Amino acid sequence: MIQLENVKKVYPNGSQALKGVSIHIKKGEFVFIIGSSGSGKSTLIKLLLKELDPTEGKITINGIDTTNLARNEIPYLRRNLGVVFQDFRLLPNKTVYENVAFAMRVIEAPSRIIRRNVPTVLSLVGLQKKLRAYPNQLSGGEQQRTALARAIVNNPPILIADEPTGNLDPDTAWGIMNLLEDINSRGTTVVVATHAKDIVDAMQKRVITLKKGVIIRDVEKGGYDNEA
Ligand SMILES: Nc1ncnc2c1ncn2[C@@H]1O[C@H](COP(=O)(O)OP(=O)(O)OP(=O)(O)O)[C@@H](O)[C@H]1O
Ligand SMILES: [Mg+2]
Repeated sequence: MIQLENVKKVYPNGSQALKGVSIHIKKGEFVFIIGSSGSGKSTLIKLLLKELDPTEGKITINGIDTTNLARNEIPYLRRNLGVVFQDFRLLPNKTVYENVAFAMRVIEAPSRIIRRNVPTVLSLVGLQKKLRAYPNQLSGGEQQRTALARAIVNNPPILIADEPTGNLDPDTAWGIMNLLEDINSRGTTVVVATHAKDIVDAMQKRVITLKKGVIIRDVEKGGYDNEA
């Protein structure tokens, strides 16, 4: 479902964020990507989305070789990917409802389906009472859940979340992780970059550890790697 072969990323300033990373993630897996700040987690995620191009190596997503994808084919790739960004990236001038509905409009979903699915997904993340709020009227956890609702509303085969529980209290963080696990149990492949040690230890999923742009550990049912 997701395949990276010897992927390297050097930023224009010479910073070597990934130094030859190979990963194979199968359909339906739940994978944590861990590693200290600057180890390359967000870079890896941006490469999956083709927000960045690798300096070397090959990336395949759901059968699509993203390496030589034309610009006008990128939307087709992104339909496979629901994403929760580290900094949420909500549209500030749109309500919670509109932020989620917008993701459906982009893929030209019929209005009828939008009106049906947006409230459903917002209830799923516990935001049914916040439909009309704007992002700046929400707590961090509520913004996080809005971003998650937006990521899953189109039912993508792959869900990627970059630090989805950063700045959340432990109960809210667990709420988000439980939602991700539910989504995974319905067949979605889930990839989560995180620093949340307790959650990684408790969930016993596959854990890939990055250190300075290199994979130093990849274990099924692993806990948090203290070396990370
Ligand atoms: N746009 C950029 N230009 C140059 N260097 C960058 C850029 N973005 C990231 N880097 C560098 O690449 C390395 C990996 O950064 P990245 O953001 O992938 O780390 P991370 O693991 O997501 O960290 P964090 O846990 O703090 O989010 C770091 O050394 C960082 O300084
Ligand atoms: Mg990051």
